[in-house]
Amino acid sequence: MKRTSSIGMLGASFVALAAASAMTPAAAQQVAIDANDIGGVVRSAKGPEAGVWVIAETRELPTRYIKIVVTDDQGRYVLPDLPARATYDIWVRGYGLVDSMKVKSTAGKNVNLTAIVAPNRTAAAQVYPAIYWYAMLKVPPANLFPGTGANGNGMPTALRDQGQWLRFLKTDGCIHCHQIGDLSTRSFPHSFGNLTGAEAWERRLQSGQAGGNMMDELGKFDVQRQLTNLADWSDRIAKGELPKTDPARPTGKSRDVVVTLWDWADEKIYLHDSIATDKRTPTLIPTASSMARPRRAATSCRGSIRSTTRRASSSRNIATRTRRRQGTTGSSRPRRIGATSRSGTATRTSTIRCSTRRAAYG
Ligand code: HEC
Repeated sequence: MKRTSSIGMLGASFVALAAASAMTPAAAQQVAIDANDIGGVVRSAKGPEAGVWVIAETRELPTRYIKIVVTDDQGRYVLPDLPARATYDIWVRGYGLVDSMKVKSTAGKNVNLTAIVAPNRTAAAQVYPAIYWYAMLKVPPANLFPGTGANGNGMPTALRDQGQWLRFLKTDGCIHCHQIGDLSTRSFPHSFGNLTGAEAWERRLQSGQAGGNMMDELGKFDVQRQLTNLADWSDRIAKGELPKTDPARPTGKSRDVVVTLWDWADEKIYLHDSIATDKRTPTLIPTASSMARPRRAATSCRGSIRSTTRRASSSRNIATRTRRRQGTTGSSRPRRIGATSRSGTATRTSTIRCSTRRAAYG
């Protein structure tokens, strides 16, 4: 599919398909595609499945590559503009379904997919957005506010009303780094089995390089009450309690969206290590390359930069090295690191701040 904007053109192609299928019912079976697209129809035992996601994923390119589209009201989809040299796993995920079997295909093929209707709400809810699960957390009663502190009701005096408590829960606390309620945050690994729920939460929030920050966020609440509340939440989920409401499938324009995801790093790299440009010179890297520097190398500033080029879906490591000793904790010095532009016609450099501080969150 040739297009400049995924959203507009995919919408346009669906309009063309709708006209074709009006002429002959068989046309609905065969979705028109280009040589670099995969298209088809998604059906379950209930018939065509509208507003469900079709996902193509491959690890055969230099970075893991995923493309996601949504089916139209006749269950049709087009995964546009896939890099040709890869075999893709293709499957269906949607509200009211469980994930379908993965089917292998390459670009240029028509692939009809079989969606599987969820046998019950428990199975369907596994792919509900995290917030549907997080919303099951109990809100402390309004009469605990304003908090009277450690020598009073335990609620911090800074929390003057229930709305402030909700602010730290929903907007300015844990959630400014990551969602809560996805599978890994609403459940515990078996290794926590010998701890009580509150102990397990306290232990887990101290994990990893963000442990200190997580404990800081916890400190905005009545800590013991909050740990008990989180434990009550995850215990109820473990016992089978489900979100109160079911999300609706995408409709209208949200069905025209094409999402393309590239991995740009590996598991040793921190999320803030992605650099797309230099804020002071935003045109520095105009070709949409982004770079990552592993935080584990932060103490010595040695390691590698991974440069991921989005359009070509390629990535390579660029070795970096700076002076070993850069002074005391907290000092930092900018360092210029060469990066070849994607076109290969010019070499550009970008300035990357190499800090000796360990937990220097961007
Ligand atoms: C400063 C950013 C930040 C804040 C704020 C933050 N987290 Fe985290 N959280 C992380 C990171 C990063 C990880 C991954 C830690 C690791 O594995 O090294 C993580 C991991 C977790 C995990 C474990 C997930 C797993 O896969 O086991 C849970 C649960 C969690 N956070 C809950 C919370 C809660 C509850 C709060 C608020 C009290 C919170 N987080 C605040 C950054 C943050």
